[in-house]
Amino acid sequence: MKKKIALLLVAAMTVSSLVACGSSAAEEPAAATEEAPAEDAAPAEDASAEEEEPAEDAAPAADGEVVTVGFAQVGHESDWRAANTKNYQDTFSAENGYELSFVDCDNDHAVQIETVRGFIEQELDYICIAPIQSAGWDTVLQEAQDAGIPVLIVDRAVDADESLYTTALGCDMIAEGEAAGNWLTEYLDGADANILVIEGSVGASATLGRTEGFNNIVAKNSNWTVLDSQSGDFTQAGGQEVMESFIKTYGAGNFNVVVCQNDNEAYGAMDAMDAAGITYGVDGDVQIISFDATHDGLQYTLDGKITCNVECNPLQAGFAEQVIKKLEAGEEVDKWTLVEDSAFVAPGIESQYATTMSQEVLDGRAY
Ligand code: AHR
Repeated sequence: MKKKIALLLVAAMTVSSLVACGSSAAEEPAAATEEAPAEDAAPAEDASAEEEEPAEDAAPAADGEVVTVGFAQVGHESDWRAANTKNYQDTFSAENGYELSFVDCDNDHAVQIETVRGFIEQELDYICIAPIQSAGWDTVLQEAQDAGIPVLIVDRAVDADESLYTTALGCDMIAEGEAAGNWLTEYLDGADANILVIEGSVGASATLGRTEGFNNIVAKNSNWTVLDSQSGDFTQAGGQEVMESFIKTYGAGNFNVVVCQNDNEAYGAMDAMDAAGITYGVDGDVQIISFDATHDGLQYTLDGKITCNVECNPLQAGFAEQVIKKLEAGEEVDKWTLVEDSAFVAPGIESQYATTMSQEVLDGRAY
């Protein structure tokens, strides 16, 4: 194991930037800001998920040694997570000069904290954490800092002082929620909405951000009512269970919008509505909004079953690798890297906030 005291000094001298998916490592960050993008901003033109994460040609370790990386992954709750895990395993491969210690923390915060402690004890060169929940990180982050190990917070955010970690990267979850709300405002064009929300895992920044962002737009629409909002834990089974309970409580015909905070929950919600004889999709009684825009989610969007699908790009490992390569080279790294995403709507819908789905877009979706 290598100690990188000098690198830590560099890591402390961080600046912020915004980097779009698909940009190459050679490109300069588009802007230096820690602000989330403006809520009314249109999504990037056809930012479909063929995006390749950045890569650099240089060997990862400047001294030719294998670079050891620990990744405390959330779990295996969704198709998005599977794609994200594969992307990390492909990027931090032995072939690419890394030794990756990958741990699936099975959505258990205590396990994730102990996993990070294990990485510290092993004196790994770098630690990547995709935080299951945003709270409760100060102590172990301080322990990593005391041990001189750079920490990358990836995918989701932590509710901790930013001096406790080296860098953070991921999608803007609040902006994703606002994108969903802005699209719905445009689509309903003044019509009433009775909305049911199936949230993600409790305490996850993906849940907190998407909820906050969507509620920001709900607050601007006095004829929208959020009837209920419950956690489906980002799983298909959770989505189905919550939807079944919503149907029992509110009854068919009393809601016209279901917001599912990821694609797997949407599949479960569709199963529950199928069983109850409730029609959904562009030609149905209920419009479904989903998040992630994975391949299967976009197939349902192309089929008109999910009316709007807000992307969250799982191909983020290249951004983490870019940070590690910079640290290996003794360079400054950005404090925050935004992985940009877009939104997609069913055929026949034109939107200033989203790309209309086509077979071509679906064919380009690798995950
Ligand atoms: O943090 C990203 C979210 O976590 C994805 O939307 C979801 O599918 C995953 O479980």
